[in-house]
Amino acid sequence: GLPASVTIYEVGARDGLQNEQTTIDTGIKADLVTRLLDAGLSPVEATSFVHPRWVPQLADAKELMTELVGRLGERARELPVLVPNEKGLDRAFELGLRHVAIFGSATETFANKNLNQSYDGQFAMFEPTMARAKHAGMTVRGYLSMCFGDPWEGQVEIAKVVEAGKRLLDLGADQLSLGDTIGVGTAGHVKQLIGAFAAAGVSTDQLALHFHDTYGQALANTYAGLEAGVTTYDASAGGLGGCPYAKSATGNLATEDLLWMLDGLGIEHGVDLDKVADTSRWLADHLGRPSPSAVVRALRS
Ligand code: HMG
Ligand code: MG
Repeated sequence: GLPASVTIYEVGARDGLQNEQTTIDTGIKADLVTRLLDAGLSPVEATSFVHPRWVPQLADAKELMTELVGRLGERARELPVLVPNEKGLDRAFELGLRHVAIFGSATETFANKNLNQSYDGQFAMFEPTMARAKHAGMTVRGYLSMCFGDPWEGQVEIAKVVEAGKRLLDLGADQLSLGDTIGVGTAGHVKQLIGAFAAAGVSTDQLALHFHDTYGQALANTYAGLEAGVTTYDASAGGLGGCPYAKSATGNLATEDLLWMLDGLGIEHGVDLDKVADTSRWLADHLGRPSPSAVVRALRS
């Protein structure tokens, strides 16, 4: 049967805002994170310690985390952030943060475009980052991109995805988030991929699923994940999101769409749908365009 409860890993403030053209004030970002926490979401990924030239939208990562520590105290230090390398980790250390995420690619082309690394080079970059983070007692999430298809390489072999995912877990990742970066995956493919990880000794409780809704498949894929026993789903308030270095990547699975389906299935999640939808409408006003989430639009009336 389906799981009784799931964890929603909220990525709107990071995956959502990294792809926006509009510059958002640091104070608005801090309001966003605070509102998402207040709606019951946890974890709420806050930002990325990447190179500000690569992702100018998140160039205020230090200011944002400092603001959040001022507002929320120690609770802010529990918010996960992305770090691609040791330099990013140093920036997280400086602020006393406790949860980081590294992000790799199942394909050579995207490792190059997103991290300026070869396929093998990315793992060499992660190794000391991981070792130092674990030594400091941090938890480290491992994202893996292009798990279903890649805009330059086409369909990605399941065996290749499992190999890359195992390498992140073997380095010490506490959780592996399988990313459909460009939203091309379908439900049968999700089942096969989870089955292949199981056959390689990776259980569903080590996995999270990270769907982008580019082809409208994110909820169907989530249902396939639920049937296979995965209990952590990445989602973005209002359905914002996309990777600036992945051609054709659009919005993440909207948190509200996910909540609507989970409510219908009677699966517990601990999140207040109305509060998330209000937050997405408030943010949409700041971004100057309506939320792409069907549920946010339907609840507007
Ligand atoms: P690089 O240019 O190869 O970096 O970029 P480098 O190591 O050669 O260093 C060059 C300069 O950058 C140096 O400074 C470093 O100190 C500095 P200089 O000596 O020239 O003054 N530098 C940094 N500064 C701040 N923070 C850092 C950092 N690292 C080096 N962390 C790098 C390599 C990895 C930094 C770059 O490629 C980068 O920042 N990439 C990030 C791309 C990104 O954020 N993509 C979006 C997130 S991934 C995603 O969205 C997918 C996901 O959602 C899952 C899915 O959907 O599939 C997670
Ligand atoms: Mg993403």
